[in-house]
Amino acid sequence: MISLKNVSMVLTAAGRSVRILEGISLVIPAKQMVAIVGPSGSGKSTLLGLMAGLDRPTTGSIELDGQDITTLSESRMAHVRREKIGYIFQSFHLIPTLTAIENVAVPLELSGERQAGMRAAELLTAVGLSDRMGHYPVQLSGGEQQRVAVARAFACRPPILLADEPTGNLDSTTGASVIDLLLSLHRDYGTTLVLVTHDPTLAALMQRVVSMRDGCLESDTLPSYSIVIDESPIAATPLDQVFSPDRASSDAIPESRS
Ligand SMILES: Nc1ncnc2c1ncn2[C@@H]1O[C@H](COP(=O)(O)OP(=O)(O)OP(=O)(O)O)[C@@H](O)[C@H]1O
Ligand SMILES: [Mg+2]
Repeated sequence: MISLKNVSMVLTAAGRSVRILEGISLVIPAKQMVAIVGPSGSGKSTLLGLMAGLDRPTTGSIELDGQDITTLSESRMAHVRREKIGYIFQSFHLIPTLTAIENVAVPLELSGERQAGMRAAELLTAVGLSDRMGHYPVQLSGGEQQRVAVARAFACRPPILLADEPTGNLDSTTGASVIDLLLSLHRDYGTTLVLVTHDPTLAALMQRVVSMRDGCLESDTLPSYSIVIDESPIAATPLDQVFSPDRASSDAIPESRS
């Protein structure tokens, strides 16, 4: 469960204090699928980063499974992130000196996976990049980098997946396959999904839509035409074929922004 209580965030830019978030209180139960929507600049990425402990709020508390993460040391927070959170950054944050397959293998190696390379290859194949594994990020298109970032965030099957516009740079076909993967992760493993998106199709697939405006929560609703994914054959790639069944649910994720 993710719980935010009266969270605010004030940053300084050009010598002036800017209030980015104000009075955000939000509880996301385990296994829920939530879309965060709102205009550009409304604070969506900032809010997602706070949930991952990548930044600290100016005031308020944020709990992950009952633990207040705003008071943790950097190293303790990195440990919690490794165990609990997969994060897909709006701007990918792939490691430029590593190839696609090496980028995906990093969290697997950190988690002690012995066949990290093989599993990274399976994941990249699942996102349609079997022919780009040896490419460096600079040699990949924006959409291809995004898919590598998605595969990396999935790699250790985290219980919470936070994704900042995971389909933002993808064409409709590739976007649909990434959405399939996200929904499969929820269906097969009960992953909590919190997705920032401008895509109404993706938002409508979530169980709940939280809308932001000017740093505040504007509305919090069920989409009118949400679907029941448990009964839907949405997934094109069964995750059992991607994830071995004996993997612990508390594996690692990349722990830094880069
Ligand atoms: N480090 C910073 N210092 C000052 N202001 C910042 C900083 N980071 C973000 N902001 C401002 O905070 C506001 C919210 O930014 P944020 O990136 O959370 O928006 P967003 O809703 O994700 O927008 P988008 O849809 O364009 O990605 C923006 O007005 C932005 O300019
Ligand atoms: Mg953003």
